Amino acid sequence: MLFYPEDLIEEVRVSNDIVNVVSEYIKLEKKGANYFGLCPFHREKTPSLSVSPTKQIYNCFGCGKGGNVIQFIMNIENLDFLESVRLLAERSHIPLPEEQSKEAIRKAGLIKSITKINTQAARFFYDKLNASGSEKVRKYLGDRGLTAKTITKFGIGYSSEDWDELYRYLVHVGFDAQSILQSGLIIKDKKGGYFDRFRGRIIFPIFDIRGNVIGFGGRIIDSSGPKYMNSPETIVYNKRKNLYAMNFARTSGEKSVIVVEGYMDSISLHQCGINNAVASLGTSLTESQGRLLKKYFEEIIISYDADTAGQAATIRGLDILNGIGCNVKVLVLPDGKDPDEFVKKNGELSYRKLADNALPLVEYKIKVLKNQINIDSTDGKIEFLNKCSDLLSKIDNRVERDMYISKLAKEYNIPKESLATEVYKRAKPGQKIRRTFEIKKNSVNSNQEGIYKEEKLAYYERILLSFLCIDNSAYFVINDRLGEYDFTSENADVANFAFERLRSKEGIIPAELLNFVNEDLAGKFGGVMQEDCNCDDIKKGVVDILNKIELYKLDIRRLEILDSLQAQQDEGVVEKLNHELKSIMIKILLLKKGGNRNED
Ligand code: GTP
Ligand code: MN
Repeated sequence: MLFYPEDLIEEVRVSNDIVNVVSEYIKLEKKGANYFGLCPFHREKTPSLSVSPTKQIYNCFGCGKGGNVIQFIMNIENLDFLESVRLLAERSHIPLPEEQSKEAIRKAGLIKSITKINTQAARFFYDKLNASGSEKVRKYLGDRGLTAKTITKFGIGYSSEDWDELYRYLVHVGFDAQSILQSGLIIKDKKGGYFDRFRGRIIFPIFDIRGNVIGFGGRIIDSSGPKYMNSPETIVYNKRKNLYAMNFARTSGEKSVIVVEGYMDSISLHQCGINNAVASLGTSLTESQGRLLKKYFEEIIISYDADTAGQAATIRGLDILNGIGCNVKVLVLPDGKDPDEFVKKNGELSYRKLADNALPLVEYKIKVLKNQINIDSTDGKIEFLNKCSDLLSKIDNRVERDMYISKLAKEYNIPKESLATEVYKRAKPGQKIRRTFEIKKNSVNSNQEGIYKEEKLAYYERILLSFLCIDNSAYFVINDRLGEYDFTSENADVANFAFERLRSKEGIIPAELLNFVNEDLAGKFGGVMQEDCNCDDIKKGVVDILNKIELYKLDIRRLEILDSLQAQQDEGVVEKLNHELKSIMIKILLLKKGGNRNED
């Protein structure tokens, strides 16, 4: 995550007093322990920005912005985290390492020369395709519908049958054998001789997003040997990090990207005017590729052959994308077609129509299930609904989850509450399940109340973590009752970081905790540290908050149980739930008696 060591970042933070830094931007006035000024992040007439010289944090109770000095610079200068650290380092004359070791210099040199070799080789192949003797290859490409313009745009070329033509050429223009070998374009034989990797193949240069040639794919024309041969992994080519045609798609101006399997699929789509197509080149999609796509596009539309799309490996790839927050849809092609054939036969508009109707991932998975299971039989229907419940229980977004619950319930004519209960039963313990649709009978508001309580819980956790940073010895009291994995997901990373520090006896202070949180969370923590952590007896404060947290958790569970009792038919389950409810009520009662009287 970070370029610089944690303690260097902390040194930069400590060397830049927050009152001094903020004063360079706005006028501050001291009132009591804190300084106040007009908040630069929203329009206001009376000061609501407070800066604490002791805690070294700022907080605006008007707009909620807050954090330590690094986040202040991020907000006011509109910089990212590392840029802000650099600015502050400069301000306080702390040198940051440049990372120019000998090894780094050698590596940079190698990357440069391999990129040059690749570029030269791509030109060589391109010229070869257009030279006499390659008529048969040009005819093949023409027969497949590729125009001269497309061939030029994608730099498509040809490698002749000769054993070492490219090798000799590259040596001739001045590259050394060692570098050429590392480009992956040649192979060393047992006797120490070199020969070309690509022979007698149509060559597709693979570009990175900036348009550098990083590798090659080679397709045979007849049917001898494997259809494709690709560059091996090299210092510049990592097939798990790149996507074919991304250099073109990135500037298409479209909000969605279409991911196809093959070189030819993406080339065909581009030729028809669909400029947002990239190819995954026959491998399962990775997280790095997902992040690259997410950086440029809002939505990812998968357009694989009908048979590969439903396969487990593909679905896993899609789950990976979904897992890192990509909005994934699946374009369903008519059976047996690939995008290349389809667009050639039916044209751009028909394909765009399919893209517009692409199914959200969950719907696509349900469709695959429906095809796999015979839902005409009762057993089949039950299996189908069980598997759908498994699927739906994994959706984190409650609005989306409830929408599918309603939709499926309607489609298969089952009571919505029963399906909801099934989904709910499967949710991982600790996963946030927030059902919002109204439940009949008499517990109208318990869901809304549950949501409110969870937010409140996260808020209490922040107070607890802030106390922990103010008084590190509170660690032992806290750790006795609340493990680092018990925090709500919003605070989980911060909690892990703080616990790790204290476990290794390194200590942590409030402003330092904020070095590692995003802007939104920094604001929330800033507010809590400034407003809610001012009690004199921290030890007592910690115990109070621990009690509150426990009470809230019990109460959230109580509301969950009440919800599931609404829809539960199974007497055994009802009895179990009632039993749990009773023991929860007792615990709540005991906790409330135990001195937590100012419960709100
Ligand atoms: P055409 O058959 O010419 O239409 O090529 P295509 O690009 O549509 O290929 P296809 O759909 O058969 O395969 C998709 C992708 O998988 C290709 O673009 C290659 O990247 C990869 N691939 C296919 N066959 C092979 C192979 O034999 N070896 C390797 N390494 N990759 C392959
Ligand atoms: Mn194809």
